[in-house]
Amino acid sequence: MPLFYEWATRSDSTSYWYEDGNIPTQEQFRKDWKIHYFDGSEPEKGRCYAIVAEGRPVGQVNYNEINRGNSSVELDIIIASDSDKNKGYGSEALSMLVEYLFRNMRIRKCWIEPTARTARAVKAYEKAGFRITHKFLSGGTECVHMELSASENGRPIVRNEAS
Ligand SMILES: CC(C)(COP(=O)(O)OP(=O)(O)OC[C@H]1O[C@@H](n2cnc3c(N)ncnc32)[C@H](O)[C@@H]1OP(=O)(O)O)[C@@H](O)C(=O)NCCC(=O)NCCS
Repeated sequence: MPLFYEWATRSDSTSYWYEDGNIPTQEQFRKDWKIHYFDGSEPEKGRCYAIVAEGRPVGQVNYNEINRGNSSVELDIIIASDSDKNKGYGSEALSMLVEYLFRNMRIRKCWIEPTARTARAVKAYEKAGFRITHKFLSGGTECVHMELSASENGRPIVRNEAS
């Protein structure tokens, strides 16, 4: 958690997460990022994973609370340092998480919403298989809604019939 807080609030990527410059205190941050994200105690409510590249943690990828009505879930990702970007880590980490969710968590659709100005993010998510479905305004900022469905992913869905 302290590392994730550093990445979100004091890294090269902070301005992407807090565009308005309104950086949360650690206490405020913990209200959004509750303990289940880190200890796996409530997998239906969301989980964070460290992205480790060449033996070093370089960022985090997570899913949020699962919508069991349509078996969908929103993802977030951050690669903290500019020197670790454009190396394929982000798209690979997303692909791995999507595959895990499709295979193990009975998810049918993953979605992610970068701001439209972050062309690198849109490109990275497209590399992971996400496609733009629509654009929208959030607080005056243009954002992009991107989705990846299990059937589009082209991988078999293996379900644990006992669960
Ligand atoms: C978005 C993010 C997760 C992507 O992870 P990453 O490891 O840097 O991405 P990848 O290396 O997998 O893919 C990036 C791709 O974008 C391309 N790219 C980089 N800058 C680009 C630009 N300005 N325009 C278009 N494409 C660009 C890269 O060349 C690469 O494509 P390629 O492999 O075909 O050459 C990471 O950069 C990050 O955390 N950025 C800061 C936070 C952020 O932007 N969040 C989204 C906005 S809310």
